[in-house]
Amino acid sequence: MKTCKVLYNGISYEAEEGENLGAFLRERGLQIFICGGHGKCGKCRLLCRGDLSSPTDREKTVLSKEELGSGVRLACQAYITGDCEIISDDQIKAEIKVDGNMPDINLSPAYEKYGIAVDIGTTTVALRLYNKNGVILSEQSAYNTQRAYGGDVVTRMEAALKGDGEKITEAIRKLLCELTSAASKDAGISANDIDGAVMTGNTVMLYFLTGTDTEPLTHAPFDAKRLFGEAVTAKSIGLDVLQADTKIYLPPCISAFVGADITCAVISSQIYKNGGIAVLTDIGTNGETVLNHNGSLYACSTAAGPAFEGAGISCGMSGSVSAIDRVRVLPDGALDVHVIGGVKPAGICGSGIVDAVASLLQTGAIDETGYMEDEETVISPPVVITQADIRAVQLAKSAIHAGIKTLLSHAKIKCDDVDTLYIAGGFGSYLDVKNAGKIGLIPNGLTERVKVLGNASLTGASAVLLSKELAKTAKELAKSVKTVELAANPVFADEYMKNMMFE
Ligand code: FES
Repeated sequence: MKTCKVLYNGISYEAEEGENLGAFLRERGLQIFICGGHGKCGKCRLLCRGDLSSPTDREKTVLSKEELGSGVRLACQAYITGDCEIISDDQIKAEIKVDGNMPDINLSPAYEKYGIAVDIGTTTVALRLYNKNGVILSEQSAYNTQRAYGGDVVTRMEAALKGDGEKITEAIRKLLCELTSAASKDAGISANDIDGAVMTGNTVMLYFLTGTDTEPLTHAPFDAKRLFGEAVTAKSIGLDVLQADTKIYLPPCISAFVGADITCAVISSQIYKNGGIAVLTDIGTNGETVLNHNGSLYACSTAAGPAFEGAGISCGMSGSVSAIDRVRVLPDGALDVHVIGGVKPAGICGSGIVDAVASLLQTGAIDETGYMEDEETVISPPVVITQADIRAVQLAKSAIHAGIKTLLSHAKIKCDDVDTLYIAGGFGSYLDVKNAGKIGLIPNGLTERVKVLGNASLTGASAVLLSKELAKTAKELAKSVKTVELAANPVFADEYMKNMMFE
């Protein structure tokens, strides 16, 4: 009988080939079965890598396609066939924190039984399922499958112009159905009982979701005729897993380039409530920034590229298990990394990229122009950062930085005048703000006043779902924000060039 190595949450155990994974874990006090190991309750979910028997029919029933694809198994159904790595659900949840910042709300949900809040990001899509008491029953996320038609909104709109619009719409609708089904299954409810939803995203994402023609958004004057702030039915946007007449609220967008995701992030951060001067910047594929200057709100949007979302980078990935999320330089000059889930690294996510670039600047592997002597530098095998990655980071960080500076300049104020800089985006709680300052992603003078929010767009959508009052506030806010154009803005062009270097 062959002896196999089982790595459970980073601790090594020995098992015999052919042992049932659930029984093996239970004997060591590591796993409790709820349904007695019949593959019914789904409570023995684990993330697995390595040699295990193929998924059983029970697993194919209980687990979503997405879960199976990402290596989730039911311990009671899997058998050890060789060396493997296992990560428990608790461990995964403890390491991936993208909770955002839920404002205080008076619970008055826009649904009777269950509701879902969804953030359709250009790169990732995240969904939360709530019960009528406002308790989260399940959270799901996945890469936006529209990526097959381009990494950013511009390429996707170009693809739509060439005739792929319907396929792009179809892709997001299908993904939303899958995520909704996965959440319902996870919570042990029927998707039919979901009777309310809020779905947010940038303007282009909502155009594609609703099958609205994106052509007017591709050229000047970028006329967004439809800015949402309206309810549609599940049937009208092809969400077949829900009852046909289920109301889906689409929060209001501010302009063609400042979407409902930002309206929701403003709700989450509550910058509109506080006096003084606060800036909110959402670091995603589009870097959107909002400034509250003593009650007046200004916004701008800049095409940053998806580098900080872990896309468009040679070893980039989302902030999930096996992603390097932190990098630091040890006293002897070697690099030390932290990997989500405590497993071998498979890639690097946004916060890891910020740290990696700051560390390579510290060790001298890259100079202040971004030049790297070697074509690539190993962060932790097999994960490397290439010269092209550094260039992508320079473009992205400079765009975000310049956007913030341009808004401040528009309101005739300086970094020193800002009370708080809220950072939203997929970084979760792990962005190292000092390193973000070191690489010039945020203006250096602001690093002391940063508050990291995580996925503020999703949290804002949740707040709108749970409070009719906030849904009203969102509508008023979106109308009051003044958009500052960056395209032909000399301040932006100047700041963009100036901040391309690592000072
Ligand atoms: S213990 Fe219930 S599905 Fe495995």
